[in-house]
Amino acid sequence: MIATEKTIETKGAGAAWDVERVREDFPVLRQTVNGKPLVYLDNAASAQVPRIVIERGSKYLREEHSNIHRGVHYLSQRATSAYEGAREKVKRFINAREARECIFVRGVTEAVNLVMHGYGRKFVHEGDEVVVSEMEHHSNLVPWQMLCEEKGARLRVIPMDDAGELLLDEFDALLNERTKLVCVGHVSNALGTINPVKEIVARAHKLGVPVLVDGAQGAPHLKVDVQDLDCDFYAISGHKMFAPTGSGVLYGKAELLEKMNPFLGGGSMIRTVTFERSTYAAIPDKFEAGTPAIASQIGLGAAIDYLNGLDRAAALAHEQELLAYATERVSAIEGIRIIGNAREKASVLAFVIDEIHPHDVGTILDREGIAIRAGHHCAQPVMQHFGVPATARASFAFYNTREEADSLVAAVQKVIEVFG
Ligand code: ALA
Repeated sequence: MIATEKTIETKGAGAAWDVERVREDFPVLRQTVNGKPLVYLDNAASAQVPRIVIERGSKYLREEHSNIHRGVHYLSQRATSAYEGAREKVKRFINAREARECIFVRGVTEAVNLVMHGYGRKFVHEGDEVVVSEMEHHSNLVPWQMLCEEKGARLRVIPMDDAGELLLDEFDALLNERTKLVCVGHVSNALGTINPVKEIVARAHKLGVPVLVDGAQGAPHLKVDVQDLDCDFYAISGHKMFAPTGSGVLYGKAELLEKMNPFLGGGSMIRTVTFERSTYAAIPDKFEAGTPAIASQIGLGAAIDYLNGLDRAAALAHEQELLAYATERVSAIEGIRIIGNAREKASVLAFVIDEIHPHDVGTILDREGIAIRAGHHCAQPVMQHFGVPATARASFAFYNTREEADSLVAAVQKVIEVFG
């Protein structure tokens, strides 16, 4: 049974979710793979893109393609207005106070590295501490290790239990006057755990410690309100949120972004340049050096339009129902161990099968037209916690169906027959 709490807003879901109608919006789903209908269950890696996003991107390339912010000419103004329009959409989507708090980046990896270079290298010193959790994706772990190594700072880790839930009492015990930053995922990509980030932010703020939330797996499923969470930074990858690769957002509170150092230097991020010194542009430009991924970020704006047009509570209710159903059916198969049994989960069903390597599971499933991910999911410490080298991971989106969950179960049974 997947528990729900107030972070999971399925209440107020309107009419029943018409999954077949929604699937029509995703052309990629209408194909066969190895002679079988494609069953796409790798949404945590990259979610599929609806037609309006594809069309918006191609409209830009067909009619508006030009560089932004630089030109006085018609096309440049159209491209700039579409790009800045996408920033406004992001602002409303996450309820940021101001659009300038939304920095366009390539995804969460760049967002975290931006905060590491811009904030960490300026404000973290020898003997300071940075807190991460045991379930972080490498993108929210390795940059902090690099920083700690450079500065002589210490990386502290919030442990989790065997269900895959963070131990908040241990978190409290880690916080002290040396803590300079807490970095935690909203939803674990390897386990599906929904972390109580609002609570984590509140506890850290009691000591005046800012919090970065990796929202790569949170934003595609949960309603994100950065003012309600009161997080200091929130990172989003567009390609996990039904938008093109190369799109993404770093939200940061303006007062923090303003006092940070720039990350990448170059065009667009400066105010004045001489050989003696340069001065920097105001946010968000200070963090957007060079020509950005204009088409992709405009696509992210279109993905937000698409999501806003859905009954998101109903979409999440559908995903939760599907996850509960698939979990129950997969758990019932002999020899299977589910990795990640938190009370609050989103999208992810990870498992191992006795004596069968997850890559073999993934390969046989692919023959059945089923796309899952097998591996350590860029979260090796999670694998170490559970004593496995890798897992097989199915991850659901609102366009997946019960029939697809049944296909997953049938294919897993086939794997066991083949290797049994
Ligand atoms: N971070 C992505 C995943 O979990 C790639 O699959």
